[in-house]
Amino acid sequence: MRLLQTQKVTKYFGGLCALKEVSFNLEQGEVMGLIGPNGAGKTTLINIISGAFHPSQGKVVYHGRDISRLKAHQINVLGIARTFQVVRIFKRLTVLENVLTAMVDRSKEGPWKLVWGSFFKRVCAFKQDPEACATAEGLLASVGLLRYRDEQAENLPYAMAKRLEIARALATRPKLLLLDEPSSGLNPAEQNEQIKIIRQINEQGVTILIIEHVMKVIMDISHRLIVLHYGEKIAEGTPKEVYSDPLVVEAYLGGEAHA
Ligand SMILES: Nc1ncnc2c1ncn2[C@@H]1O[C@H](COP(=O)(O)OP(=O)(O)OP(=O)(O)O)[C@@H](O)[C@H]1O
Ligand SMILES: [Mg+2]
Repeated sequence: MRLLQTQKVTKYFGGLCALKEVSFNLEQGEVMGLIGPNGAGKTTLINIISGAFHPSQGKVVYHGRDISRLKAHQINVLGIARTFQVVRIFKRLTVLENVLTAMVDRSKEGPWKLVWGSFFKRVCAFKQDPEACATAEGLLASVGLLRYRDEQAENLPYAMAKRLEIARALATRPKLLLLDEPSSGLNPAEQNEQIKIIRQINEQGVTILIIEHVMKVIMDISHRLIVLHYGEKIAEGTPKEVYSDPLVVEAYLGGEAHA
């Protein structure tokens, strides 16, 4: 079943065309890899799907509904969550509190209707609530972070901070998870762990769109790939098909790909 479709999505930043008529389908349950050289428009595409930006032209259809004009929070409530290329967590909060804040985000009122004071009151209330804590602990366990439960987030090793971001995204119970370079900066052992975690999330029924430069990760994990180059989709197919496509080799693997 089709979960999401972009229809000729185009995005201009001033005179710069960051995405040009990008169309693709995401089927429910799949892991779709999104690759391409630096500046190709990958993060911009995730920004548009998640509602951080609106497309200049074209639309994003999710469950048959045009979501291109919705705000990020509304899109999150519909079941789309994301992580960021540069980790975004609350450094001064504990690991558990970070997940609880994400759970509060998803609660009915939504963060934007709450002033900050009452937002943190809600987090404190969640902290006293055994059920909420058990849910948060389950999320931490699913990314192998339970032993860091009471650690202040700023003390986490980098790889663990990346996992905490994933746990925060999962706290909103997404049907679609958008991952922006979840393995960047990780060593090979940590990359393997990350592959396992992402695969488990997918096996629990979450559809995944993943941007990644680490070829081993993208090859291991993706059912299909799309390739962006200067804002245009230049290829789509299984990892094997895509990596043997001369256009892709020329554009991406030839020179500019970074490790
Ligand atoms: N908010 C913005 N304002 C202006 N230009 C932007 C903005 N975001 C992205 N761009 C430009 O759009 C183009 C695509 O950027 P994007 O971040 O989507 O690339 P990317 O494929 O994610 O690259 P990388 O692999 O380096 O993360 C780049 O030329 C970038 O400078
Ligand atoms: Mg990017």
